[in-house]
Amino acid sequence: MNDITAATLKTDKIPIVFSTVTGNAVKLANAAASACPHIGPYNAYYVLNPGEGSLRCISDDILNAYPTLILTYWCDLGSADAATVELIGRLKNKNLILLGSLGTPADGKHAEKVRERVESLAKKGNALLGHYLCRGSIDLARSERKRAIAEGAPLHLDEKGFARHLESQGHPDDGELAAAADAVKRALARVKG
Ligand SMILES: Cc1cc2nc3c(=O)[nH]c(=O)nc-3n(C[C@H](O)[C@H](O)[C@H](O)COP(=O)(O)O)c2cc1C
Repeated sequence: MNDITAATLKTDKIPIVFSTVTGNAVKLANAAASACPHIGPYNAYYVLNPGEGSLRCISDDILNAYPTLILTYWCDLGSADAATVELIGRLKNKNLILLGSLGTPADGKHAEKVRERVESLAKKGNALLGHYLCRGSIDLARSERKRAIAEGAPLHLDEKGFARHLESQGHPDDGELAAAADAVKRALARVKG
């Protein structure tokens, strides 16, 4: 991780931006919100799409005005989701704290690869203050759809795979949310200390 000096943290409020499909990143965003003075949590869609009328301008406010941001993401295709990747790509010279969840165990090889990919994106032009990745519940409606696909066909979910999806339920749990909040505090202490 890059070195950060206290001078780079110019404001005492930190925007929190979440990208989610099933809500786990919102839980992580709320955990982050419990750990620091913040604005948001904002939906990444709101930040990425300045749009018209009442939705206008927030994008510039968030992307330009604050030196430190917390982004919470979901894992898609072995990396951060597309909205988070786009958001990170638009950021330059920011301090980033990332909190994410994925369907597989956070101590597995897949998670290790996800961590590496996301961190390499975050470090391109920004400083990564902290990154916490935990397991997140997989949407069982989607699992059932994949389970119903004929055996041998692409995307079929077998019973072993389905058991793994069942294991993911309940995550992030209270311990993981507390650890996420703690990761935010430790990341910010690196700046303030
Ligand atoms: C379309 C889709 C793709 C996914 N791809 C992966 C993946 O590549 N690796 C993984 O571990 N989990 C994957 N997952 C599981 C999610 O990352 C996981 O359930 C996460 O906690 C969802 O977070 P959210 O509730 O904030 O959307 C995928 C889920 C969906 C819906």
